[in-house]
Amino acid sequence: MALALSCTGAVAQVKLSADNIEEVIKAMTLQEKAELLVGRSNNSAANSSNGLIGSHAELVPGAAGSSRAFPRLGIPTTILTDGPAGVRINPTRENDKHTYYATGFPVGTSLACTWNTELVEQVGKAIGNEVLEYGCDVILAPGMNLHRSPLCGRNFEYYSEDPFLTGYIAAAYVNGVQSQGVGTSIKHFAGNSQETNRLEVDEIISQRALRELYLKGFEICVRKSQPWTVMSSYNKLNGPYTQENGELLTDILRNEWGFNGVVMTDWTGQRNTAKQIMAGNDMMEPGEPSQVQEIVDKVNSGELPMEALDLCVRRTLQYIVKTPHFRNYKFSNSPDLKAHATVTRRSATEGMVLLKNSNQTLPLNARQTVAVFGASSYDFIAGGSGSGDVNKAYTVDLMQGIKNAGMNVTEDLAAIYTNYKAYQRALIDAEKDPNVWFWGTPKIPEMPLNRIAISKQAEKADVALLTIGRQAGEGDDRRIDNDFNLTSVERQLIEDVCLAFHQVGKPVVVVLNTGGAVETASWKNLPDAILLAWQPGQEGGNSVADVLLGKENPSGRLSMTFPLSAMDVPALRNYPNVGLDKSDKNGRRNVDYNLHQEDLNVGYRYFNTEKVAVSYPFGFGLSYTSFAYSKPVVKATKDGFEAQVTVTNTGKLAGKEVVQLYVSAPKGGLDKPAQELKSFAKTRVLQPNESQTLSFSVSNYDLASFNEASQSWETAQGKYVVYFSSNVEEARASAIYNLAKMPYPVRCHNVMRLNRPLK
Ligand code: BGC
Repeated sequence: MALALSCTGAVAQVKLSADNIEEVIKAMTLQEKAELLVGRSNNSAANSSNGLIGSHAELVPGAAGSSRAFPRLGIPTTILTDGPAGVRINPTRENDKHTYYATGFPVGTSLACTWNTELVEQVGKAIGNEVLEYGCDVILAPGMNLHRSPLCGRNFEYYSEDPFLTGYIAAAYVNGVQSQGVGTSIKHFAGNSQETNRLEVDEIISQRALRELYLKGFEICVRKSQPWTVMSSYNKLNGPYTQENGELLTDILRNEWGFNGVVMTDWTGQRNTAKQIMAGNDMMEPGEPSQVQEIVDKVNSGELPMEALDLCVRRTLQYIVKTPHFRNYKFSNSPDLKAHATVTRRSATEGMVLLKNSNQTLPLNARQTVAVFGASSYDFIAGGSGSGDVNKAYTVDLMQGIKNAGMNVTEDLAAIYTNYKAYQRALIDAEKDPNVWFWGTPKIPEMPLNRIAISKQAEKADVALLTIGRQAGEGDDRRIDNDFNLTSVERQLIEDVCLAFHQVGKPVVVVLNTGGAVETASWKNLPDAILLAWQPGQEGGNSVADVLLGKENPSGRLSMTFPLSAMDVPALRNYPNVGLDKSDKNGRRNVDYNLHQEDLNVGYRYFNTEKVAVSYPFGFGLSYTSFAYSKPVVKATKDGFEAQVTVTNTGKLAGKEVVQLYVSAPKGGLDKPAQELKSFAKTRVLQPNESQTLSFSVSNYDLASFNEASQSWETAQGKYVVYFSSNVEEARASAIYNLAKMPYPVRCHNVMRLNRPLK
């Protein structure tokens, strides 16, 4: 029995409520406190794919983790489910006819490319509602690591190479999810830039690059949305594991940014649990019994102070009292999947980026007949693989989407591809080694097609559509050959289809169905139009058709640079699977440790500053209409500036424009990239000739650089050029912000120092 003395001296039974947390802590035994902090993965492995994940059969089968219940104290279990592209739980249950499919939303890159925080918040609301109605408390999302290199296997889950865009999109997602009374876990904090050896790799990053790039997005998200939880990453960062690093989890996250929620580990086995607790890592997930014993032993031996344990217990209870399980919410197990299918269909269209559209090839006319090429057109990729893969009820492929839109397709070609797909899928199943555990479904290889067959299609169809697909995911990084670069079969197919169709004066449209950047420079001159559809969620084919037919005008803009070639990306000189990962005396470079020698030279900060040509710059994207910018205004405020610009639709179709506000700093302060994104805004749908004035707000703190010598954020005084741009290389209007006097620097803890030289 949980008994405590009441103030009158009577013995009272303590049951957790929002205002008696201290009393509950006093009533808990050491064993209970230890158990509260350690997840309960050791339950039945039935329904579990790997013994750890999804082992909560009696609660929500397929959910990733949980916290334990203590009925005597009125503490319920809480359930943690993956994310980020939707709820990841098992879709079916034993002896149960009901299904538990969740909506597969567009991947992170796609959401970021909408540059539309309101829309992302709507997506967050729909996801939050599914978390709630499927009996979960927290979604392990959003993924916020930077696209340091195009080869990271999980870039599809992440947003951008830019921390401001990342931070604002993540905050919108978190606000949306949490508006439903459930929580988020922003991840992976921090520096989890590669999948290769992700459990052990030591990411070596300068304090300045950490503060300005790798932590900045998290900082913005924490300040703007107070996520319930943060997930510490697997990797080490300048020495210690992030999960054991108090400088990161306490000094920076809590003391500097004001985070007041729970930190939980990424799904590791046992590390030094006492160190994790001392660092401020409250919950150990998915949790192992030995971790409970370790806590008990170390408290008893005096190695782990009870105060440190109590702090984590207090924060965990503060989290628990917010959850639906604590409120005893009666979930339905029947979220409105139809309504959410509409949300995903619409949000996917807004993330699509029109890269090329010669002679107004797009939008297509619904009466045209289409020859649909490319294996991925028939095996469309809704999302990436790994824990970010959602168990959705269906994926609409491009072929189906085109048909649903009422277009005619050349059925003979469709039949060839449909048979090929069935054959390839059967082959993959037959060759599957039951002993090798694999996340998700691999992509089927491209099918070679002979020129005569292609020419016959060119006679019959009005236009060719050709999809190039890419699948990547958790646990592995991408390669340059046959992945970032096209395979020889894909390249040949593009060449042959373009040749045959152009010979008879018909256009070719390439659709890119990928979670991250691919090489485009060597072939983009061939087709007439290129639409970057990303991995657009379960309604993918319908979403693409909406854009191809002009039902939606594309308004996505790149959230990362498309370089001319992979090796132009500075980080790739220090990246797994690329030339340099040989052993040296100090360990396996890029495997055991990774030097971020490029420092701030990530994405456009490098390409734009060093004037290195790219295939498509950061922020790029075309529209079916055109826009003019006018009346740029910048006005100083007490601690920064407010800006405005007017956007007018000067074309013939309705559409939305994204205005990107870049700032170029004055000389005199620290050396900075030529321009940095500091704000952005998107118009509503503007009809031809319609205008809208957009407003932006930037603080002096947003403009600051991190000075390692003084360990402070400093904003140089002088003239800042404020650009209102349609992409980083195309300023459409500008104005000046004059900062007459340098504001007082913001002092920080001198923490997260390098543990080995970067050079
Ligand atoms: C991933 C996390 C995920 C967790 C639970 C880990 O392997 O890195 O992103 O949330 O598993 O499935």
